[in-house]
Amino acid sequence: METKIAVLASGAGSNFKALVQGDTEPGIVDILLTDNINAGALKLAEELGIESKYLYPGKYKTKFGIREEELWTQFLIDRGIQLICLAGLMRIVKGPLLEAFNGRIMNIHPSLLPAFPGLDAQGQAFKYGVKIAGCTVHYVDKGTDTGPIILQESVAVLDSDQRDSLAERILLKEHQIYSKAVKAHCTGRAVYSKVVR
Ligand code: GAR
Repeated sequence: METKIAVLASGAGSNFKALVQGDTEPGIVDILLTDNINAGALKLAEELGIESKYLYPGKYKTKFGIREEELWTQFLIDRGIQLICLAGLMRIVKGPLLEAFNGRIMNIHPSLLPAFPGLDAQGQAFKYGVKIAGCTVHYVDKGTDTGPIILQESVAVLDSDQRDSLAERILLKEHQIYSKAVKAHCTGRAVYSKVVR
């Protein structure tokens, strides 16, 4: 039985692309939604032949307006979406969306959580001087980057690294683990309350 996935992205969309091209079966990316009319992800969606839609997120910068979050939620319910994958959505999800899709929203974050939650995780890790950085796919809960962890991958920090070179290598790992985590969810190997390996 197919699992219909919506990917929510604000930026370039490389994780969205990795989800479309990776093996997520029986999950299938049905639509890309964005809160940013200029998101690179919109162009990628066109190239990949995936339907996409911009929806107004409200007047705030890092969260949805209450009414707008209700509209996004209704759109996703009406569309028959069963799993939401946040892929560089630069907005906190907490109200109606989390209630309607509790346990069915995943996020990718560019650090080894619980270290370095929040914005510019790669920059935070680089500045701190860690020797091992990485990325995490986790379920979304009410906190910021705090939900149950599904998969992580480490990335060694090289002496020659700058913030951006490190971020590039982390991004490559992100692309590898996101589809694996989605597949684990869609095949019942990962569930919100208990992540089975
Ligand atoms: C990725 O590095 C993702 O982990 C990060 O934004 C980037 C989006 O890149 N997400 C966060 O920092 C969320 N807290 P992409 O648009 O190329 O997928």
